[in-house]
Order: sequence, then structure tokens, then C-alpha cells
Amino acid sequence: MTNTTLSTCSVIKIEGGKPLKGKVRISGSKNSVLPLLFSTLLTSDTCLIEDSPDLLDVKNTVDLLEFLGAKVQKSGKALKVFPRDVHSFQTPIETVRKMRASVLSMGPLLARFQRAVVGLPGGCSIGKRPIDQHLKFFSKAGAKVEIKEGYIFLEVPYKKPVDFSFDIITVTGTENAMLYLSSVKGKSVLRNIALEPEVMDLARALRKMGVKISLKGRVMEIEGKEDLSGFVHKVIPDRIEAGTFMVATVVTGGEVIIENVRLDHMEAVVAKIREVGGQVENLGNGRVVVSRNLKDLKPSYVETAEYPGFPTDMQAQFGVMLCIAKGRSEIYERIFENRFQHFFELKKMGAKVEINGRRVSIEGVDRLKGAKVNSTDLRASASLVIAGLIAEGTTIVKDVHHLDRGYERLEEKLKKLGASVERLRLSGYEI
Ligand code: EPZ
Repeated sequence: MTNTTLSTCSVIKIEGGKPLKGKVRISGSKNSVLPLLFSTLLTSDTCLIEDSPDLLDVKNTVDLLEFLGAKVQKSGKALKVFPRDVHSFQTPIETVRKMRASVLSMGPLLARFQRAVVGLPGGCSIGKRPIDQHLKFFSKAGAKVEIKEGYIFLEVPYKKPVDFSFDIITVTGTENAMLYLSSVKGKSVLRNIALEPEVMDLARALRKMGVKISLKGRVMEIEGKEDLSGFVHKVIPDRIEAGTFMVATVVTGGEVIIENVRLDHMEAVVAKIREVGGQVENLGNGRVVVSRNLKDLKPSYVETAEYPGFPTDMQAQFGVMLCIAKGRSEIYERIFENRFQHFFELKKMGAKVEINGRRVSIEGVDRLKGAKVNSTDLRASASLVIAGLIAEGTTIVKDVHHLDRGYERLEEKLKKLGASVERLRLSGYEI
């Protein structure tokens, strides 16, 4: 046999039909710890970030901070960042390709060096993901912005306060502007900002650094200063991981105590879970118990929206629930233009869905059937794992490296809850 090197890939193998039972602790929020890590570039003091999740995106961000000259120490779930020796204002294109959230380096690097050169992020599987609003902000703030050879070149001769209104609500666009303005003296105003809990968590950390930030509706006033201090900050719980476990518990008909939950960050998700027949009971101290109080889950209409609306990052997971609800449901994905790819995989498992642009209609079926399915992005992977938990027989979810970007050892947490799930490395022939 020719010794061709067989391609291998990590897969998750699931035997469906086991209800989840027990206790699980939610990790710190991926979409909060990333901007918090970038905020350390604004100071020379040491910063301590507690309850950081152990994720690929966090590792990539730490690698970038170290590439820029910072030192980072990890002890348990805490990251101690020493940004004193940050010397570079360049974020390589490879880094941005690996993790598009690296665009969050633009604001702090421009603030620190009055220059920044950052790789231009491409689109990804869920959409084109332009950053025109980020660049429009930097231009309005007085920066020269040039794009050439796949890089964004920013330069600001002197930093001045600005009154800027976003044309559309953007999470990392808001965060980039906040990071930049944190070191701009004088009062700036940002209008039509994102209000996600992760954005508010960043604001809390920036206040600890000495930035004055006040909020009225979607208008934020920011008064920055040059010599920002370090901070100690505990990352908020990951509301999307919590929502993922709630859906998994309800669809499997189990009962799980979920710890480290901020229910106040999950009102839209919990309301929908209760509407279709899930039960979410607040036990206090960040603990909830989730179960299912209807044998037949009810269909629903879900429209994704900016916070506090139903989060697009929960659309795929919730969609699996609707695939086994009794009746016809509809999802309208308002945030991203291509975030239904997981439904093509769910159809291989017997789901009855019709996709029409940003809308999908779902006819509930009694049971999904195990199959080999491909994951295309982080939340799609999670939805396929959930589908495997309830499908008849065996499901193989391929390309689960997507999962590792946003979930801390998901299969281990599920196994502890009684799921029959394991991660394998399969070679080309087996896949
Ligand atoms: C953040 O991405 C999150 N990522 C995403 O989570 C999340 O899905 C998204 O917000 C929406 O909630 C992080 O926080 C690291 P946007 P972001 O800018 O900031 C359009 C996950 O699974 N837009 O709020 O990139 C854009 O195309 C990830 O954890 C522009 O047109 O999202 C999209 O349609 C996936 N121009 C919409 O706005 C811009 O300049 C919202 O995007 C910026 C955005």
C-alpha cells in the first residue's frame, strides 16, 4: 500500500437517548475575556483576569499579546498580564485569520502607539463580517485609515475626543471604540452602541483602570486618560454556554443544576425555553435547576436580535429543540446572513426544515436519527452535539476543533452529566 499520509480529524461520537442529570459549572465568557485581554494593552501595569475559560481563542489571544511584547502568566483559571514591555503595534494577518476577534487589537494599539497595523479579517462561514463601522469610527476619531496588501494601516497624529454614531449595532465595533477612547482625554460620545453583557463587562474593567464611563440607553459617554492603571477583574459567566446546557437538558428530558449563571443576562433565552416547555428555576447564588415540564415540546417563533433580544449565538442550539417540537416553528436570523448551515446537517439526521434566505421553517419530527455530520462554526458544532444527544443511534460530529474555540471541554462536561459521548481522532478511511 502506498504510504499516503492519512488525514485525521477530531470527532465527537455520541450515542443518543441519555437524559442529562447532575451538576455543571459554566465557564467564564469567551466574548468577555477576549476584549478584557486586549484592554491590558492600554496600560503598563499588571492586570489580573480571573475565571478565564480555557479556550483556543483565549490561547490565540495570549499568543498575540506575547507576540506584541507582553508577558502572560496562567495559574488555574487566572491570567496575569504584564504589558509593560509591549513594543509592537502590528497584528499579523495569520493571527487575524486564526481568530477574527484579533481586530480588537486595533483600538488599544492605536491608543498606545498612535499607530496600528492589523491584518484585514476575511469573512467566515456565518457571513461576510465586514468591519466598516470599526474603520468609520477610527476615521471620525481623526485617524488616517488605509487598507493595502491585506492589512489595515491606522495612524492618528493626535488623539482627540469624538462624538460618533454607529450606523448599525456592532459588538466588537463598540468594544474597539471603547478601548481606543479609554486613553483619549476629554469627553467622547458613542451612539447606537451594543449593550451585550460582554460589552458592559469591558466597561466595568475600564472603569477600574480609571476611565469614566456613563451610559444612557444606547449612548455611552467616555472620558479617557493617558496613564491608565492595571486591574483585577473576574470574567462574567458565559451566557451562551449556559444556554447551550439549558437546551441540552430540556431536549434530553433530564434535570441539571447549572452553576455560575447570570440569569439577568439570559432573559430572552430563558423566556423562550420556558415557552416551549422547559423549566428553569432560580436556586439563588448563580445556580439554576433546569428540567422539562412538557412531554411534547411546543413549536415557537424565534427572531434573533441585538441584546437584550434573543442572541444569534443561541439560534443553532435552540433550532435543534424546535426540530423535535410538536408542530411548525420559524426562525428569523436577523444578525448574520449565513447562519443556517447546521440545518443542512440536521436534515441528514431527519430534521424537516425549509431554508428561505434568513428565515427557516421547521416541522417537528418525533425523533432525529444518528448520522455523520460536519460542523462549520462554533455554535453549529454545539447544535450538532445536542442533536446527537437525542438522536436514535450513533452520531459522529466532525471538525469539532470549532467547538474548542468556544467551549471548555464540552464533551467532558456532558459525560459527567451521563451522556454517552467521546472525542476520537479518526483517520481518513474512518471518517
Ligand atoms: C460578536 O461578533 C461576537 N464575537 C459573535 O460571537 C456574535 O455572534 C456577534 O457579536 C453578534 O452578537 C465576539 O464578541 C468575539 P457584530 P462581532 O459586529 O462583533 C455586521 C460566537 O459564536 N457588521 O456585532 O463580529 C456583521 O456583519 C461569535 O461567539 C457590519 O456590517 O459581530 C453582522 O451582520 C460568533 N459592519 C452584524 O453587523 C461592521 O463594521 C453584527 O456583527 C461590524 C458588523
